[in-house]
Amino acid sequence: MSAREPSLAYETHLGQMYLGRAEDVLRSQALEHCRGHVQLVFTSPPFPLNRKKKYGNRQGDEFVEWLASFAPLLRDIVSADGSIVVEMGNAWERRRPVMSTLALKALLTFLERGGLSLCQQFVCYNPARLPAPAQWVTIERIRVKDSYTHVWWMSPNDRPKADNRRVLKPYSAAMRQLLKSGKYDAGKRPSEHKINPRSFLTDNRGAIPPNVLTLTNTRATDPYQRYCRQRELRLHPARMPPGLPEFFIKFLTTEGDLVLDPFAGSNTTGAVAEQLGRRWIAIEADPTYVEGSRGWFVPLD
Ligand SMILES: C[S@@+](CC[C@H](N)C(=O)[O-])C[C@H]1O[C@@H](n2cnc3c(N)ncnc32)[C@H](O)[C@@H]1O
Repeated sequence: MSAREPSLAYETHLGQMYLGRAEDVLRSQALEHCRGHVQLVFTSPPFPLNRKKKYGNRQGDEFVEWLASFAPLLRDIVSADGSIVVEMGNAWERRRPVMSTLALKALLTFLERGGLSLCQQFVCYNPARLPAPAQWVTIERIRVKDSYTHVWWMSPNDRPKADNRRVLKPYSAAMRQLLKSGKYDAGKRPSEHKINPRSFLTDNRGAIPPNVLTLTNTRATDPYQRYCRQRELRLHPARMPPGLPEFFIKFLTTEGDLVLDPFAGSNTTGAVAEQLGRRWIAIEADPTYVEGSRGWFVPLD
């Protein structure tokens, strides 16, 4: 991708989309005012692939170094109690039924280069994922479906702003029944843990979610897709499920906070941030994806 002057592509009530390379935009005057004020960087960078894709993925150690070069830039832009959340899929070695360790290497190098703490690792599990890599999974049947991505929550601070009460899950039917009856067998668990029935029977308005997020991206249509189809714009091939940024934006920010996605693609992050009343900045290097991302914000016709 050639170096271009960053330009403001469009603005909404709460956000700004920049067309340009993240490395240029992040260093530019345009973002001077938000240095140290971004509460959450949420992004899914181009993945390390074993073949080149349309959106210019780097390969091997070149990718590791390239991604790590963003760590100090992003650390500078987040607030003292801010978070950096990076999603990354798995990669496989070319023509071999073995996984590449690149994603892990890239995340570790990013963490170290930014002097960041790993607050928590998450897994984003997609039960609707097609069986892949096809050669090993469906043809030779020697591997199982690769169906999750890594999500690393990092911060310059061991105690970034966070509150799991903003991301509670509805209680299970069994738990609702338990709360209703008020009766709980408080004996020892098989793990030998003794449960305090009083704390167990308190209605906390929902269950604390685990660090495995089960999310699919199977919606056949949304304002973004409709807009792109009407204008014959290429749909982004690696869009994330809106539930993913939604979880972290709710968990790690409150209304009015600033969220940044430096590799925004179709701008799922900006769209969700806008819906949740957070300010946002998005950066994307491909003009077609920037153009399509307007679709989240135009009134439906
Ligand atoms: C995995 S995709 C992000 C998809 C996005 N999360 C979504 O839901 O649509 C990564 C994006 O990074 C963009 N990209 C690659 N290099 C870039 C750079 N140097 N600066 C900004 N964007 C870049 C690619 O064009 C691609 O759209």
